[in-house]
Formats: sequence, structure tokens, C-alpha cells
Amino acid sequence: MLPKKVKIVEVSPRDGLQNEKQVIELSTKLELIQRLQDSGLKNIEITGFVSPKWIPQLAESEQLCQKLQRHTGINYSALTPNLKGMEKAVAAGLQEVAVFTAASESFTKKNINCSIEESLQRFVPVIELAKQHDIKVRGYVSCVLGCPYEGEISADKVAEVTEKLFQLGCYEVSLGDTIGTGTPRKAHEMFKSCQQIADTQYLALHFHNTYGQALANIYACMELGSEIIDSSVAGLGGCPYAKGASGNVATEDVIYMLNGMNIECGINLEKLVETGNWISEKLNRLNNSQVGKALNNSQ
Ligand code: HMG
Ligand code: MG
Repeated sequence: MLPKKVKIVEVSPRDGLQNEKQVIELSTKLELIQRLQDSGLKNIEITGFVSPKWIPQLAESEQLCQKLQRHTGINYSALTPNLKGMEKAVAAGLQEVAVFTAASESFTKKNINCSIEESLQRFVPVIELAKQHDIKVRGYVSCVLGCPYEGEISADKVAEVTEKLFQLGCYEVSLGDTIGTGTPRKAHEMFKSCQQIADTQYLALHFHNTYGQALANIYACMELGSEIIDSSVAGLGGCPYAKGASGNVATEDVIYMLNGMNIECGINLEKLVETGNWISEKLNRLNNSQVGKALNNSQ
């Protein structure tokens, strides 16, 4: 049964920019967020309070939060891998953060330098501090449809890690196909297995489009009622610890598909396409949104 409404979580300012090789001006990051909110996006992951040694692109996260003109009704969030990151999120006055782990041991080691179990233990004080400040915590599970180091990942393992994140206090868990190798039946099976341990309304899809399967995989999960989709304008993004992984599914492509199926999401596609063109030009890269390219060619 398809959902009537979908929540879009825009991750381009974080996932989209973290993998760029070039230096990105703070003013560009701020303008990107401004444009995204102007196009009607209500949930934006604006940065990560992660180690600048590991992810230099997100080094200016504190200044970004200080300078950003925030609007009421928009949910701004950031990644917080540890207590240090969470303390920064509290100081920045954010109302939502995200912790991240994976369904693969090897990937967790490369990405956050610890085991899955250690990562979950590390989140205990992070989530405790968040609760003290009424900050909502989202959880990410990476490698839900495959791992760059281990290959196949079982749907049961994904559900097990997802359940632990809910038990720790996450209000929503986002399921990441980090390397974009998944295909629809597998996505369907994985989502179904997570539905055994959580209500559908708390499970998000975070699919990278490396193999061009993301929209098909999203649709396969939407048939099971899935109603939260992470995406990135112009298909920006990729994980530095997943070699060859390309960006998230493009927000423009998701919105076009939802519009075509009369599923409400409250986003202005035209403005979004302009933003995708603008950021692609700024970063001197190809626009990875099929819909963005098609609409550009039709003008
Ligand atoms: P570590 O080296 O094990 O930790 O890193 P540490 O505690 O030994 O700290 C090392 C240095 O980093 C120290 O500095 C700390 O102060 C500093 P030094 O003393 O050497 O000068 N540090 C920090 N600085 C700022 N903010 C912090 C912070 N923490 C430590 N929060 C750590 C552990 C988790 C910090 C590190 O591994 C890290 O930051 N990794 C970044 C991982 C990351 O951001 N990956 C990309 C995002 S995840 C992703 O893309 C997947 C996702 O999109 C879903 C999907 O697609 O599947 C979410
Ligand atoms: Mg990602």
C-alpha cells in the first residue's frame, strides 16, 4: 500500500558535501541551505560535528550553525558521532542530531574507528545528553544492502542493529544503502525485516544511487508503506569510507516521481531544479539528477 504523504530529509549539505575534494566556501554552504529551505524542504541535515581530521569538508560546522538564519518550522539536524560532537550540537542549539553505525563490522571500523557494539555503547551518553536537552536523535544504519568490504549483508543483521538503535532511544532509523548496490527485491526484503521490529512510520530510506537503482529500491519499499526518504539535490554525495560510492538519490528525481503518483510532499520542483543547477555549477560537477537534466533540456 503506497503512502499518502512522504517526508523528505534533505542530506546534501552533509552527505552531499562531505565527499568533495575541493574546499567549499562557508558562504556556499549557507546559500545551499537557504535555497533548499526556500524550495519547501522542511527537514535538512545541515552538517556533521565530526572530526575535521577525518572529514575536512565539515570542519566549519560551528560557524555554519552560528551564521545560518534559521526559520521556524524547519528541522535542522547534524551528525554527532560521539559526546564531543553532541556537546557541539547542544551549543549550536540544534533540535535534532543523528548517530551512525552500520550492519557491517568492517565498515564501522573504517568509518568511525570502532566495532558495531562499541559504537552503540558510545551512543549511550550521546543520547542521554540529547534527552537532557530535548534533542531528538535519529539513527543511521549503513551498508543495509551490501558492504564495500564484506559484500552481502543479511536482512536479519540490519534489523538487529536497527532494533538496538531504537532501544537506545533513537526516534527514527534511516536505512543506508551506502554503496548503492541494492536491487528492489532485496530492498523489499530488508525493509520488511525491519518492519518486524519497528513501525513503518519510524523507518527511513537512505539510498545512494551508484548503480542507478535507488528510485526502484525506494518504490519497492514504498509498496510496503515506507514514507520517509533521504535524498540530496543534484544527487550530490558519497561516503569517503566507501570507495566509488556515488551520491544519494537526487531529491528532484524523488519529487518528480512522487508528484507523478499524487503523493504529497510540499516541495517546489522548479526551485529545487534551480538549486541543483546552481550547486552543480558552484562545485564544477555534473548535475546527477535525471529530472534536473531533462527539465534543463526542455527549456
Ligand atoms: P577517533 O580518531 O577514533 O577518535 O575518531 P578520537 O576520540 O581519538 O579523536 C581523534 C581526534 O579527533 C582528536 O583530535 C579529537 O579531539 C577529534 P586530536 O586530539 O588528535 O587533535 N575529535 C573531534 N573533533 C571534532 N568533533 C568531534 C570529534 N571527535 C573527535 N566530534 C570519530 C572517531 C568518530 C570522531 C571519527 O572516526 C570521525 O569523525 N569519523 C567521521 C566519520 C564520518 O563523518 N563519516 C561520514 C559520515 S557517515 C556516512 O556518510 C553514512 C551515512 O550517510 C549513511 C549511509 O549512506 O549509509 C550516514
Ligand atoms: Mg549516505
